[in-house]
Amino acid sequence: MSLRPAISTGTATPTIEGAGVHLHRAFGFQDPKAHDPFLLFDDFRNDNPEAYYRGFPWHPHRGIETITYVLNGTVDHSDSLGNTGSLKAGDVQWMTAGSGIMHQEMPSGNSMGQMHGFQLWANLPGSLKMTSPRYQDVGAKEIPEIIDDDGTRVRVITGSFWGQTGPVDGIAADPLYLDISYLAKFADASDPQGVLLEKEVLGQELNIRDLSGNRTLVRFGTGDEIVVRAGPEGMRFLLVAGSPIREPVAWHGPIVMNTQEELHQAFTDLRNNQFIKPQDH
Ligand code: CO
Repeated sequence: MSLRPAISTGTATPTIEGAGVHLHRAFGFQDPKAHDPFLLFDDFRNDNPEAYYRGFPWHPHRGIETITYVLNGTVDHSDSLGNTGSLKAGDVQWMTAGSGIMHQEMPSGNSMGQMHGFQLWANLPGSLKMTSPRYQDVGAKEIPEIIDDDGTRVRVITGSFWGQTGPVDGIAADPLYLDISYLAKFADASDPQGVLLEKEVLGQELNIRDLSGNRTLVRFGTGDEIVVRAGPEGMRFLLVAGSPIREPVAWHGPIVMNTQEELHQAFTDLRNNQFIKPQDH
C-alpha cells in the first residue's frame, strides 16, 4: 500500500456567483486539467442571508454533472424537465446535465440564517456529454453514516467505504464522495482530557497534518490511501476522488465541452431555443 502524497494546498477564494451569491471557490475556471475529472468546487457556507438570498436564477448546463450537498438551510430547485424540490440539511442532489438542462437554485437559510453547503462540478467524457439529463435527489436518511467506536463519522455519498456504498450511482467519473468528521465532542464529555488527539482515518502514517484549516483544499497524487489526524478540536472534511477523463476541455460559464465547435453549438442552441433536447422517455 502506498500513501497518496499531498501535492498542493490552497485556500478557497471569495467569489460572487449567480445573482449575487457570496461564496468561496476552492477551484474552478482556471486550469481545467488540474483536478480532472472535477472542474469546480464552491463552498457556499454563509450566515448572512443578504449574501446569498438572490440565489442562482435560471441558467443552463451542458456536458457536466453538478453535485450539491447541503449542510444547513434549504435549496429550492426547479428545472426544464419539470422537476421541483427542496434540498434540506444533509441532502444531496447529483445532477447529470448531459445534453442540457435549464435550472434554478434558490437558497434560504435556517432559523439562524445559515445557508451552508457545497457544489462540485464533475466533467463528463465526450461520449456522455450529450446523454439524457438525469437527477438523483438523495435524502439525508438515505446516505449511510458509519460511526466508529471512537466517534469518527463517515457519510458515504457515493463510492464505497468501510463496507458501505453510497446511494448515488452510475456516475461517469466513478467518484468517491465522503463527509468525514472526528469531533472532540463525541468523546466522553466528563473527561475532556481523554479525547483521542490523533485519529488515523486511513492507513498508518501522517500525511496532511498541519496542512489544512477551514476552506483549505489539499490535492493528493496517486496512491492507495491517505492519512488524516485531527487535533483536540476535532476535524471535519470532505474527501472526493474520481477517475481522470483526460480529454480536451472547452469551457465557457456553465457549459463544458471537448471542442470550441461544440461550445459554439451550445450557445447557438441557446440562442435558437434548441438547447433542451427532446427526451426519449
Ligand atoms: Co446550476
